[in-house]
Amino acid sequence: MALLTQNPYKQRSFDLYGLKGISDQTLEVHFGLYAGYVKNTNLLNEQLVEMSQSGKAGTPSYAELTRRLGFEYNGMVLHEWYFGNMTTDGGADISGSSPLGRALGESFGDPETWKKDFTAIGGMRGVGWAVTYLDPASGRLSNHWITLHEDGNIAGFKPIIVMDVWEHAFLLDYKPADRPKYIESFLANLDLTAAEARLTGSAERPIG
Ligand SMILES: [Fe+2]
Repeated sequence: MALLTQNPYKQRSFDLYGLKGISDQTLEVHFGLYAGYVKNTNLLNEQLVEMSQSGKAGTPSYAELTRRLGFEYNGMVLHEWYFGNMTTDGGADISGSSPLGRALGESFGDPETWKKDFTAIGGMRGVGWAVTYLDPASGRLSNHWITLHEDGNIAGFKPIIVMDVWEHAFLLDYKPADRPKYIESFLANLDLTAAEARLTGSAERPIG
């Protein structure tokens, strides 16, 4: 039986040293964690192919590995979206006349209200992600909390702005209770061009 083997995912690099309020040390640790997700995703895929080749597809251990793949894969992709929407030149005000500003205005009233809601969601208890998603069916933007990497992801929605609020994203720079300061820093580094490219579909790689 021929099995579809896949090319391994390649770890991507992000030129982010020198961000405002997020230290290079934090980024270094964070890039290392991201590398672990890429490695584990590739490893799980290899193991699944090997198990299939040895007739173990359909066993409980095979099924369990596919469940773990969801965690590792989301961990890889969410980090690429997060690093991909920050830049050392970031943090400009969102103009109400820009495509992103208009979309936020139509969905939230104005960009400031989006920011308040996004900040509040990112500040909730627990480790996970705050994401502004686009519903491709309605064109509406909405903010969501994702626990860990999986629980709360909306199937089929497109990520526009993605913020990591696991503690490893900020504990070297801020006290646990100072998560709001980290969120301010994230917004101060937000790459509006990247977010807009995701929104308008002009991103070379929409997930990047
Ligand atoms: Fe992270």
